[in-house]
Amino acid sequence: MNVLVTGGAGYIGSHAVKSLRLAGHKVVVVDNLSRGFRAAVTGGVPLVVHELGDWEHIRRILKGNRIECVMHFAALAYVGESVNDPLRYYRNNTAHALELLHAMRLVGVQRFVFSSTCATYGEPGPEHIPITEDCPQQPINPYGWSKFFVERVLIDYCRANPDFSCAILRYFNVAGCDREGDIGEAHNPETHLIPLILQAALGQRPHVEIYGTDYPTPDGTCIRDYIHVEDLIDAHLLCMNNLAPGRRFIYNLGIGRGLSVREIIASAQRVTGRKIKVVEGPRRPGDPPSLFADPSRIQRELGWTAKVTDIDAIIESAWKWISRNPRGYTNQHPVE
Ligand SMILES: NC(=O)c1ccc[n+]([C@@H]2O[C@H](COP(=O)([O-])OP(=O)(O)OC[C@H]3O[C@@H](n4cnc5c(N)ncnc54)[C@H](O)[C@@H]3O)[C@@H](O)[C@H]2O)c1
Repeated sequence: MNVLVTGGAGYIGSHAVKSLRLAGHKVVVVDNLSRGFRAAVTGGVPLVVHELGDWEHIRRILKGNRIECVMHFAALAYVGESVNDPLRYYRNNTAHALELLHAMRLVGVQRFVFSSTCATYGEPGPEHIPITEDCPQQPINPYGWSKFFVERVLIDYCRANPDFSCAILRYFNVAGCDREGDIGEAHNPETHLIPLILQAALGQRPHVEIYGTDYPTPDGTCIRDYIHVEDLIDAHLLCMNNLAPGRRFIYNLGIGRGLSVREIIASAQRVTGRKIKVVEGPRRPGDPPSLFADPSRIQRELGWTAKVTDIDAIIESAWKWISRNPRGYTNQHPVE
C-alpha cells in the first residue's frame, strides 16, 4: 500500500516508517521537524519537511504519491506545555488534523490510523482499572482534549461517510527502541521515565526523581503500562490491513499489566549493570496511582498480542540505542 506517515521523523513515527518499509509498503513522510529528526527517517524513505496545516500542499502530496492510507502520528505531546499554551495544542493537534482530513477527502483517501492516547481517559477511578475502551473519557489537560476532539471528528466522519475507515489507537506508555538499534527515542526535553533513567545510568543526569512514594500501590510509586514500540507498530499495520469501507476500530494499546516506577528503575539497573541514584520527591498533580490497559478488544477482534512483555527486554532495546547514541541524533537538532 502507499502510506503517508505524518510525524515520521519522531520517535514512534520513525519506527512505523521502518516497519512499513520492511513489510513492502511505499512510504512518504511529512514532518515539520519541530520535534523530529531527519536522521530518524531511514531506508531512503522520502521526507517532506512541511506543516500539516497546509492542506493544499498535503493534497498535492497525497495525490502525487497515490496515497491509500494515512498514519497520523504528528502532534505535540507535552502535558505541561499544553497547560501553558493550550491554543498551540488545539491548533497543532486538533485543527491541523482537520486540515489533513480535508485534504484526504479532496483526493479520496479513505483509510486513516490515528495516534490517540490514554490521556483521553483523564484520571479513571480504581473501578475502571484495567481500562477498557468503554471507560468514560474525561481528559484533564489540553493535550488529552486535543486528541479527544480528533477522535470525535473521526467517529462522526466515519458515520457520515461509509467509504471512510479509521483506527483510533489509544496508546499507554510507549517504550523501547528498534531492536536492531538503528533508530531510537529522542525527545528534547525528555520527559519519559525509561530514557530519563537511562540518561542517569549514562551519567548525563545526576539522579532520577520519583514523584510520590505514598501512593496506594504495593511499593508506593505509580504504576503504568509499558508497551514496546515495535508491538505498538505491529498493531498499526494489522489495523491498516483490516481497514475497509465502513469499518472503524477503537483500541487500547498496552500490554495489560502495570509496573511501578521502582520496578522500572530496578530493571534498568539489571540491564545496564549500573547503579542509578534516586531522589524521592512529592507527588505531581494529575498523576493517578495506577493506569493500565485492558487490551482484550484488539486481541479478540484482530488477534494482536504484545510479544515483548518482559520489562528487561524493553529496557534492553532502549539501552542498546541510547548507549550507542548518548547524544541522540547528533547534528540533527530539531528546529523550533
Ligand atoms: N510516546 C508515547 O508514549 C505516546 C503515548 C501516547 C500517545 N502518543 C502519541 O503518539 C504520537 C507520536 O509520539 P512521539 O512520542 O513519537 O512524539 P515525537 O515528538 O517524537 O514525534 C512527533 C513528530 O510529529 C512532528 N510534528 C508535530 N507537529 C507537526 C505538524 N504540525 N506538522 C508536521 N509535523 C509535525 C514532530 O516534528 C515530530 O517529529 C503523538 O501523536 C503522541 O501524542 C505518544
